[in-house]
Amino acid sequence: MQAKSLVCEEEDQVSSVKTIRKRSKPTSVGVPSHVIKFKEVRLYLVERKMGSSRRSFLTQLARSKGFVVDDILSDEITHVVSEDSETSSLWTWLKGCGLGNLSKMQVLHISWFTDSMREGRPVTVENRHLIQDALPALQIESALAPVAMISQYACQRRTSTDNKNKIFTDAFEILAENYEFNDLKSSCIAFRRAASVLKSLPWTVECIGATQGLPCLREHTKAVMEDILQCGRSFEVEKILSSERYQTLKLFTSVFGVGLKTAEKWYLRGLRSFSEILAEPSIELNRMQKSGFLHYGDISRAVTKAEAQALGNIIDEAAHLITSDAVIAMTGGFRRGKEVGHDVDFIVTTPEAGKEEYMLRQIIDSFKKQGILLYCEYQASTFHMSKLPCQSFEAMDYFAKCFLILRLEASRVDGGLSCAEGDNRGWRAIRVDLVSPPMDRYAFALLGWTGSTQFDRDLRRFARSERRMILDNHTLYDKTKKEFLTARSEEDIFAHLGLEYIEPLQRNA
Ligand code: UTP
Ligand code: MN
Repeated sequence: MQAKSLVCEEEDQVSSVKTIRKRSKPTSVGVPSHVIKFKEVRLYLVERKMGSSRRSFLTQLARSKGFVVDDILSDEITHVVSEDSETSSLWTWLKGCGLGNLSKMQVLHISWFTDSMREGRPVTVENRHLIQDALPALQIESALAPVAMISQYACQRRTSTDNKNKIFTDAFEILAENYEFNDLKSSCIAFRRAASVLKSLPWTVECIGATQGLPCLREHTKAVMEDILQCGRSFEVEKILSSERYQTLKLFTSVFGVGLKTAEKWYLRGLRSFSEILAEPSIELNRMQKSGFLHYGDISRAVTKAEAQALGNIIDEAAHLITSDAVIAMTGGFRRGKEVGHDVDFIVTTPEAGKEEYMLRQIIDSFKKQGILLYCEYQASTFHMSKLPCQSFEAMDYFAKCFLILRLEASRVDGGLSCAEGDNRGWRAIRVDLVSPPMDRYAFALLGWTGSTQFDRDLRRFARSERRMILDNHTLYDKTKKEFLTARSEEDIFAHLGLEYIEPLQRNA
């Protein structure tokens, strides 16, 4: 099957307003003499509470900015805007208007209108804009209502670790990975976004009709879902799983220190297994790859929560021996409530500015003295405010950090280690990442290192497309005000972005 969604990430940044409802035919009502810029959006301004003169002023304003505003409320309307703060009387009135399409309309507070006028385009509908019908709470649970409220941005959705659509998202992730292996970035992103939307649903998709109106699901993604719904599996995914190229690249990139480029180079040379690589005299493994192969059995096995906690205690002890005001936070998947991970990620810092990098090196020294340091790749800080804001997001941030393999003794772990069968060494190797941002960068680093990767991507995309701001692991920069925004906590960052706070447990996008 052929991928239909070869669009780049930038092109894909359509406002979710557009995805809510496609209009079929235009009406003659209220056709303005102005140029129409937003054909998919048709507004109706409710006169109640607004008054007729303000209504006609706002109507003219919107039309001058390219919006279609109808004078009459009909089923053609996509967005109803009201200044009425009495929700129940507004809804009683709307329901009495004899509309057939009310459930598909966005009923919005005037704030959505003013935001849109300021931006000169229909802004994405956020929860704070919605005037919700308080009465039929049951109806909101029904098929149509929640769909209209799901944002295209993961940072406006809540996603716990309880994935009700794993059967689809597993398939999407294999497809995405395969596109990544073949350097088809936009298709890869499309499938990752689709997977992320399905992960956020509190219900399981049981028929393709139930996906109507969900953002980020395209023809190709739906075709894969239909296969799975009908046959319990996707033939396209099965073909990928059985392909030699996919299997080999998957195997090689599972080694610590082996990226896609190296894996592909080995594959093109005809190598297919670890033993072939290790037996090939012309291949010179670097230090990281040597450790990757040496500890492969241990570090390719999932890390449990108890093991992560034990490592947290070890890091905590080491840091507090160095300075009593050390600040340690577990980040990554474990902070998001995951039961297992591929590594354990920590932020280690201190309120004493400039001392954090020194502290990180001391912690590594302490591990060495304890005999638990199996591997260490240390990267000194290259952070400086004068380098910011970064125009393009780089995977790596500038903070001092280290990628470690640590030896964890069974005696340190509540309930013991998760061991391979027959393994009675009494210890295992675990991958640990430590990062040391200066304390005034702490909130940004915490947000970035907590992930998920998809959640962070969409936070940055939302900041850029909806707020004209640049977010990364170091800062938040407002391009309109031309200033850096300060944040002491993650909550501050969400507030600057005008987003509802999403707690770490709900960031498993
Ligand atoms: P991980 O790759 O460890 O992912 O990166 P995870 O979510 O914890 O998943 P598992 O359980 O280990 O497989 C954690 C977060 O840290 C960010 C990543 O983008 C991710 O969101 N990160 C990682 C950075 O921001 N910079 C880095 O240099 C590395
Ligand atoms: Mn991790």
